[in-house]
Amino acid sequence: MAVQDLRDWIALMESAGELRKVQGADSDIELGVIVDQFQRRMELPAVLFDEIKGYPKGFRVLANTLTSTRRIALTLRLPAESSKMELVQAWRKYAKKYPKIAPRWVSDGPVNENIRRGKDVDLTIFPAPKWHEHDGNRYIGTGCIVVQKDPDSNWVNVGVYRVAVHDEKTAGLYISPGKHGRLIMEKYWARGQDCPVVVSVGHDPMLFFVAGLEIPYGVSELEVAGGLKGEAVQVIESDAGLPLPATAEIVIEGRIFRPFRRMTTPIIAVFSVPPRFGNNSSSREFQESKQSGPTRPEGAGCF
Ligand SMILES: Cc1cc2nc3c(=O)[nH]c(=O)nc-3n(C[C@H](O)[C@H](O)[C@H](O)COP(=O)(O)O)c2cc1C
Repeated sequence: MAVQDLRDWIALMESAGELRKVQGADSDIELGVIVDQFQRRMELPAVLFDEIKGYPKGFRVLANTLTSTRRIALTLRLPAESSKMELVQAWRKYAKKYPKIAPRWVSDGPVNENIRRGKDVDLTIFPAPKWHEHDGNRYIGTGCIVVQKDPDSNWVNVGVYRVAVHDEKTAGLYISPGKHGRLIMEKYWARGQDCPVVVSVGHDPMLFFVAGLEIPYGVSELEVAGGLKGEAVQVIESDAGLPLPATAEIVIEGRIFRPFRRMTTPIIAVFSVPPRFGNNSSSREFQESKQSGPTRPEGAGCF
C-alpha cells in the first residue's frame, strides 16, 4: 500500500495490528495520561482518539506514532519485519549516497478543502491536548512540522518544534538556539521583518521522522523525505510562497513576530493572525465554509 498521507498511514497501521482506537477521552490531561501509558516502553501500538469529549466526531488525535520497530520500518517503506539492526543498516545505506528528490509543486490538494482566513480563524476548535497537569497551554503541534524559508538562499527548512495554542488566533513555538528554524527566524528579525511560517499538523509520519533529524544546514528535509520515499513530496504554495504538504490534515500559516522588547532567552516566538488556515476535516462548519469540491470523510491531527 503506497502511503501518501496520514489517512493511508493510519489504514496501513490498522491492518498491521499497530493501532489502538480510543473513544470518549478528555483532551484535558486524560488523553495525555492514556498516551503516557502507551509510551512506557517501545513496541506498544499507536493510539487514535476519536469522539473526544466536547468535540465533533472526526476531530481526531493520533499519538505515539513512531514508537515501534514495525511502525518505523513501515513508515520508512522498509519490510515490516525489519529488525532494529536492519533499520540502522538501511539508514546507513541511505546516508552513504543521500539521494534526494525535490518536492513537486501541485496546484491543489485535500488541504485546500476548507480554508479560513483572518477573522474566521479559530485555533481553539481543535482538540489540541493539554498533555500534562502543569502545561501552560494546549499543544496543537507535537508531531507537527514547521516550514520556513531562508531569506538569503530560498532553502526550505523543515523542523519539529512544538506549537502551543495561546488563543483563537495566536500560537507560540520555542526553537532552541542553533536549530535551523531559529537561525532562519533571526535572519528575518535582523532585517526588521517578521518570519513567515507554515505549520503542518497531520501528515505522512515520514515527514515528521525526517524533520526531527539533524539534517545538515542548507539541505531541505522535504528533499530528503522524497529521497527516502522514492517519489517527490507533493506541495502547494502557501500565501507567503512556502511549500505546504498538499495532503496535510491541518495547516496553519502565519508570521513569527519580531521581539518587541529586549528579552532574555529562552525567547518564546509567537506567531499570529494566520492568513491561511487549511483543514480537511468534515465538520459542518467547515463544509459550509466551502461552497464546492470534494470533502473527505474524517480528519486526524497528529498533535
Ligand atoms: C517530538 C519532537 C518534538 C520536538 N520539539 C522541539 C521544540 O519544541 N523545539 C526545538 O527546538 N526542537 C524540538 N525538537 C527537536 C528538533 O526537531 C530537532 O533538533 C531537529 O533536528 C530540528 O531541525 P533543524 O535541525 O532543521 O533545526 C523536537 C523533536 C521531536 C522529535
